[in-house]
Amino acid sequence: MTEIRNVILKIKGDLMSERPYVIDEMISAKAIAARVEELCKNIQSEFVGTDKLIVVGLLRGSFVFIADLVRELDLPVEVDFLEASSYGDGMESSREVRILKDLRGAIEGRDVLVVEDIVDTGYTLSHVISLLKSRGPARLMSIALLDKPSRREVWVKADWTGFEIPDEFVVGYGIDYAQRNRNLDHIGKVRFTD
Ligand code: IMP
Ligand code: MG
Repeated sequence: MTEIRNVILKIKGDLMSERPYVIDEMISAKAIAARVEELCKNIQSEFVGTDKLIVVGLLRGSFVFIADLVRELDLPVEVDFLEASSYGDGMESSREVRILKDLRGAIEGRDVLVVEDIVDTGYTLSHVISLLKSRGPARLMSIALLDKPSRREVWVKADWTGFEIPDEFVVGYGIDYAQRNRNLDHIGKVRFTD
């Protein structure tokens, strides 16, 4: 059943990405930079004194955010990545989370900060948090650049959130639509023009 659902989502995704659209700015690069600075102050006071912090980025959407975060953090950090997938190339979550690429290193006894781009239905972050918790980290915290609370289907909340946004499909600052627009320096919303 999920197989069929995923095939349908994939076809839907392929068709959708053919539609013409424009991107309207929602959060400027400047506003993001200011927020990253604030968030890092909070993260620093949580992890003050740590010498065992691993910042775990969820690929691929968090790669720009994590790059800005770790350069702003005045703490010794290691960086690792995990790839989980709940989206095809379309605009709808498949609700079935698969780990496509696991961490390279062990996290037992370590301080861990999970970095996510957007919390939408909540399936991805809640799955990743329970997976990482089962590995016995000393401390596990999470941060999401964006949160769409109105879309939540599973209860989960990142410890820190950059911006709460309405139910719009967004791109930029690492976040894609059908793999495009990750290189925008701001967050914009997709508006179809047909
Ligand atoms: P969730 O499992 O439904 O919470 O989905 C989280 C993942 O879906 C995020 O990590 C994003 O990769 C993707 N996603 C959710 N909303 C958007 C969006 O508006 N634009 C692009 N990707 C999104
Ligand atoms: Mg993602």
